[in-house]
Amino acid sequence: MKILIMNGPNLNLLGQREPGIYGSGTMDDCLNALRTLHPRVEIDYYQSNIEGELINRLQAAMNEHIDGVVLNAGAYTHTSIALHDAIRSVNFPVIEVHISNVHQREDFRHHSMISPACKGVICGFGLNSYRLGVEAIIYARQEN
Ligand code: DQA
Repeated sequence: MKILIMNGPNLNLLGQREPGIYGSGTMDDCLNALRTLHPRVEIDYYQSNIEGELINRLQAAMNEHIDGVVLNAGAYTHTSIALHDAIRSVNFPVIEVHISNVHQREDFRHHSMISPACKGVICGFGLNSYRLGVEAIIYARQEN
């Protein structure tokens, strides 16, 4: 199996950015733990602070025979119709994830533009949200 994890803006700063909200673990720690836990799953990773680059990466994944994408779109979650459209355009499932529980936070984080286009949503479990996202794709694949 092949799964792509994608992070949007400011998530390159995980470990330093608002540790009270996002924790002190880095994305490298998270990816190492995931690859150890699921050695038979190829886990690729992409991060960009730029909306169009995230869309380009999603579209490129259509030619890579991947089983699904775990996407933390960061603040673009709340604003991006373009990402919504891109997710609807691809031929694999996309799982929306958030480290924090966005529903416990500011009102502007309560609405997601991308949720209706995603297969499901996971939020509030810290870096474990990525693991749960990966496992959602693995289990969905086993059901088919
Ligand atoms: C986030 C939540 C978003 O509201 C925020 O803009 C982020 C991170 C999360 O993982 O909790 O950048 O997606």
